[in-house]
Amino acid sequence: MAESMQGMKRSHRCTEVTTQQIGATVTVMGWVQKRRNLGALIFVDLRDRSGLLQIVLDERFLGGAGFAKAEGIRSEYVLAVTGRIQKREAAVNENLKTGEIELVAEQLRILSESDTPPFPIEENSQTKDELRLKYRYLDLRRPDMQKNLMLRSRVVFLMREFMVNEGFLEIETPILCKSTPEGARDYLVPSRVHPGNFYALPQSPQLFKQLLMCAGYDRYFQIAKCFRDEDLRADRQPEFTQADMELSFVDMDEVMDVNERLLQYVFREAIGVDIPLPLPRMAWREAMDRFGSDKPDIRFGMELKDVSDLVRNCGFGVFTGALESGGSVRGINAAGQGAMPRKKIDKLVEFAKGYGAKGLAYLSVQEDGSYKSPFAKFMTEEELADLVRAMDGQPGDLLLFAADKNKIVWNVLGALRLKLAEELDLLDPNQYCFLWITDFPLLEWSEEENRFLAMHHPFTMPVEEDWGKIDTDPGAVRAKAYDIVLNGTELGGGSVRIHQNDVQEKMFEALGFTKESAYEQFGFLLDAFRYGVPPHAGLAYGVDRMVMHMVHADSIRDVIAFPKVKDASCLMTKAPGAVDAGQLNELRLAVTETEREA
Ligand code: AMO
Ligand code: AMP
Repeated sequence: MAESMQGMKRSHRCTEVTTQQIGATVTVMGWVQKRRNLGALIFVDLRDRSGLLQIVLDERFLGGAGFAKAEGIRSEYVLAVTGRIQKREAAVNENLKTGEIELVAEQLRILSESDTPPFPIEENSQTKDELRLKYRYLDLRRPDMQKNLMLRSRVVFLMREFMVNEGFLEIETPILCKSTPEGARDYLVPSRVHPGNFYALPQSPQLFKQLLMCAGYDRYFQIAKCFRDEDLRADRQPEFTQADMELSFVDMDEVMDVNERLLQYVFREAIGVDIPLPLPRMAWREAMDRFGSDKPDIRFGMELKDVSDLVRNCGFGVFTGALESGGSVRGINAAGQGAMPRKKIDKLVEFAKGYGAKGLAYLSVQEDGSYKSPFAKFMTEEELADLVRAMDGQPGDLLLFAADKNKIVWNVLGALRLKLAEELDLLDPNQYCFLWITDFPLLEWSEEENRFLAMHHPFTMPVEEDWGKIDTDPGAVRAKAYDIVLNGTELGGGSVRIHQNDVQEKMFEALGFTKESAYEQFGFLLDAFRYGVPPHAGLAYGVDRMVMHMVHADSIRDVIAFPKVKDASCLMTKAPGAVDAGQLNELRLAVTETEREA
């Protein structure tokens, strides 16, 4: 039986009550975490989003009818309780914020009853993800999820506060858009009024924020929902939130400066982590050469070494073959892992193959200084000694080499480095290593499309001194782009934008657009640029990723209230779902037979 709360008013959240209130009368409301029935006394742990408070239900204070009601209480019932706060007589609980006190109930109402929940509502739940997501509203009652979402709220508040104080205006941009070229697949929304035409949900507010710069709103920001139809991973969702900004009349350094201070402020105020400024910067090429990644985790070493020159003339065909076809041979040193059993090494080889390697060559330096390696027989003693020396190999170390095209070698060793660090427990979650990556290539060759693609997006400004190479050696042109990386995750990225129509047109040309097709897609931007456009630059963070790192979650799902699973569906609402024929007719859409059968 559900009672009304009429006449009762919550005075405190459960853990807002402290020893200061001893003797005072308070009213709390919340869910029953636990109930212990001792006959004449019933103890209830009452939970709200602040935490737990122990309630004592005693017939002497509740009266006979009240106590009879108390005997019916079960887990997850919603209660309103008024009573006196007293010091606990026994069982002081030091793990609890309210561990020294309890509330002796004088008035009790059951506001709502509950079925037995499908899993216990508790911290560090072992419940399977599928079940958690199906009953997300119950999962969200768990203290760790509540902490995550409360921190997320605080992070967004702190960002807004910082941005407003720095003179940024928060301006909303449309959700029903024309497709923006961020590189992922668009989510499309059919138009009823324009049959056969579609809106695209924004992959980011990129073009609109640039137009806002044209319009004179020289510092813009927005907490923006973005939509990308791409394969999901632990740090990717089909809809996610960006903290997006754009600034006029600035160069790269000014954008980086504002953002360093923003990060410092938010991390200090949200989780008490002090980030020393300025943040380190590293050119893209150096990041690839040293870490095999454009988002390196610099909490540990195990850096890549290029040994191409050393093995160029050796007798090992795998190495020389890769070099002859223009690739490289690089290695990492898994220090102290020389005794790794063969089976485990084979697993590393399989792992490397998953990243495109044809194999993984290894050499273990034995304690007596001799070498164990399948390719030792192809090299002279001296060549081997040089190789080991170049890798700084000490007795007991395991050296791992990949030989292939640069891109594959980087990819393989970069991934292997991270895997080993995880296995060897080299990653301290409480260390926050920020790093700017700069000097990205402007363009990236796509084997599939047989043309250059923009590495960031087509509006990114080239480095002036490289621009001359756009016709002769487009791959060598660097971009005025920057990513902010935290512990191996790309937290955010941005660039200085092209604001000259001639450069923009040339850029479209390099990307293989005809004048007409560029105009067809981006005409409104090119037109806007004819009416006085300020130099501008910006950046966007993945808010979900930032909060994920702050709470040490393994997946951004744990910091999003209602996330989607790997196939982009929602297990709770069962979205996406079929729609009825009437809706389809209105949109002049038809579902093919095969789809309907599926
Ligand atoms: P970019 O595409 O690099 O840049 O995105 C910016 C940041 O958004 C986050 N992010 C994601 N987070 C969760 N799920 C996803 N699927 C996902 N995709 C991206 C990342 C990323 O660093 N308009 C430009 C920014 C600019 O140039 O100003 C942009 O969108 O943390
Ligand atoms: P194979 O000649 O293919 O039997 O390879 C000999 C050794 O070299 C094996 O240990 C392979 O795992 C390794 N190997 C093969 N291809 C590569 C490569 N591209 N880079 C590094 N090691 C490789």
